[in-house]
Amino acid sequence: MQGQEEMVTEIISYYQSLKNPKEQENLVAMLREIQEEMGCVPKDIQKRISKEFDVKESVISFIMKLYPSLREAAYRHRIVLCSGERCAKKDGAALIRAVKKELMPDEGGISKDGVFLVSVRNCLKHCKTSPNMLVDGELHTHVKEQDIPRILQKYRAEG
Ligand code: FES
Repeated sequence: MQGQEEMVTEIISYYQSLKNPKEQENLVAMLREIQEEMGCVPKDIQKRISKEFDVKESVISFIMKLYPSLREAAYRHRIVLCSGERCAKKDGAALIRAVKKELMPDEGGISKDGVFLVSVRNCLKHCKTSPNMLVDGELHTHVKEQDIPRILQKYRAEG
């Protein structure tokens, strides 16, 4: 069986052999294929693509942002916590602490078990139901600190 690195090299060579390898459409298709192989397109692979295709790193980075389905790090669920004023008034900071304590995200927000990407946004625009948190776009309202393990477990169980 081919290793992941060989597969990625093969994908890159294939796209290099195309007529217009630098066209955005081709770059996106290649990034998608790499992601299928690796579960994400890590920064070092983005750098490699930039070198091998003679495209600026910022262009690859821009494409990654343009297509939300493309991910820089492998994770299965995305959590967005709220640091807005209204949530903060209802102990939103305790939620943020509880999630971080449970998941121990690294600097990039990836949880220690690699399952979650944790980020914080200033107001999720649902202040009436504060404190709130989003998981995979699903809004959880009136969340209490003690709800956190149950919520996380639900998504863990989904795989
Ligand atoms: S402050 Fe949290 S949703 Fe607005």
